[in-house]
Amino acid sequence: MKHLISPLDLSPDELSDLLALGEAIYSSPEKYSHCCQGKKLATLFYEPSTRTRLSFEAAMLNLGGSVLGFSSADSSSAAKGESVADTIRVISFYADICAIRHPKEGAPLVASMHSSIPVINAGDGGHNHPTQTLTDLLTIKSLKGRLDGLTIGFCGDLKFGRTVHSLINAMVRYPNTRFILISPEELRIPAYLREETLDAQNIPYQETNNLETVLPELDILYMTRVQKERFFNEEDYIRLKDSFILDKRKLQNAREDMLILHPLPRVNEISTEVDNDPRAAYFKQANYGVYIRMALIMTLLGITVTD
Ligand code: NCD
Repeated sequence: MKHLISPLDLSPDELSDLLALGEAIYSSPEKYSHCCQGKKLATLFYEPSTRTRLSFEAAMLNLGGSVLGFSSADSSSAAKGESVADTIRVISFYADICAIRHPKEGAPLVASMHSSIPVINAGDGGHNHPTQTLTDLLTIKSLKGRLDGLTIGFCGDLKFGRTVHSLINAMVRYPNTRFILISPEELRIPAYLREETLDAQNIPYQETNNLETVLPELDILYMTRVQKERFFNEEDYIRLKDSFILDKRKLQNAREDMLILHPLPRVNEISTEVDNDPRAAYFKQANYGVYIRMALIMTLLGITVTD
């Protein structure tokens, strides 16, 4: 594996090695604190980000490496009309590895075709977000103890939510996964995901717009924000943005050991009163993101640490 563009770029074995490395780093981070000395990570962010960009930077700094980059298209030569292909050709001289986030689906794939350094997709439009998926998998594995036999409820904007698309693609590879897809009619998962992934592999799933009735069945509830920036008109966004709000009252019917995940940022979809519920794991999830990104950077750079 040279680049990470889609969650399926990792074979099941590579994925399990990566998760094992993430767990090892989580339990003894000091062992890894110099292994990327002299290496540079470039973060090319053409779209807003807090966690993804800063956790990539924290990950590289934790490994003893350095970071450089830009955090908006306006402050890069994209504002002058430069193509992603030209930018990455040049960044390949400046850094050893790069993470790229772009509003256009497929831009990181294009970058990888013109790059001589590993390219990591840090989110491409409404398409994929494989490193959030790695974060989600490490969180689920660490807190639930397994990745198979889980009923996962995805709730919110399943049409534009790239974290949902990537996690569905990754979870179908584990036995006995079942999905409950909770959204307004207009924000259901894209047809390609239903046809090419769920139907093609006979994965059990159910679509509903009623969170409360399905809540008691869930092992994991994955809440998402309605993706304002991907809507064509503001009226639709305003009408749909508060379709689901998770609060303490609704949680009364959920399992004691259900995990509540959210890739963050949260807007209104989880009431802040839920934050101190023992099932709320979304801040822990953001923390796991640093460790799995450390594991990913090491793996793509071919760096190992021996005892
Ligand atoms: C997500 C994203 O950018 O897709 N955020 C993140 O990376 N944690 C989710 C979102 O923006 O809603």
